[in-house]
Amino acid sequence: MNYISVAIDGPSGAGKSTVARAAAMKLCYVYVDTGAMYRAIGLAVCRKGVSGEDAAGIAAALDGIEITLRYENGTQHVLLCGEDVSDAIRTPEIAYYASKVSAVPEVRQFLLDLQRNMAQKGNILMDGRDIGTVILPDAQVKIFLTASAKCRAERRYRELIAKGQDVTLERVLSDIESRDEQDRTRAIAPLRQAEDAVLLDTGNLTLEESIEAVLRIIREKTEGKA
Ligand code: DC
Repeated sequence: MNYISVAIDGPSGAGKSTVARAAAMKLCYVYVDTGAMYRAIGLAVCRKGVSGEDAAGIAAALDGIEITLRYENGTQHVLLCGEDVSDAIRTPEIAYYASKVSAVPEVRQFLLDLQRNMAQKGNILMDGRDIGTVILPDAQVKIFLTASAKCRAERRYRELIAKGQDVTLERVLSDIESRDEQDRTRAIAPLRQAEDAVLLDTGNLTLEESIEAVLRIIREKTEGKA
């Protein structure tokens, strides 16, 4: 049986997970949000009281960590040693830990096997930073979803203001620029577009248009292959 793998990579704030989740739902593919796996490890490390700067401590903390994904009505739930942590991983503190653990080679190796195994089991749409370049280099479809930093910052700013948070656009933009810089320059699995990935700039697209564009690319690339 030949399964289809779709790899969607790109910087944070480009709308990747919303677009990827909706496209996967439409195609009845399993959606794998790999950022959630890094976040679950970040949560485990935080709970163990290991510092985000302690790479050796983070690598040692992997011993005994079990990450499982479970699907309920098409929605991904992340389990850390059997506990559903899907909500607990969505805090700024855990975002910080996730970014720290994601730079540790042992963590990336640990998740690489897990993520590759998932692609053996059925049609999947996986999103992250290194899916098309490292995890699934043979994916039939690779999309690099992006938008200018200014545009991503404006979207994020509107979301935060709607949530009642006290932020400035300048601050949001500088956070996004420094995260981009970290993602692109880290030594291991840096964020970059795979040579055979289709570049999709969502800057001038609505959410619906972005989903439609992703579906169109997938259909074009997989016609007759599923
Ligand atoms: O997409 P996200 O914000 O949930 O990702 C959380 C962190 O994990 C973020 O710092 C980037 C990192 N990450 C990564 O290094 N590789 C991936 N494939 C997915 C996420």
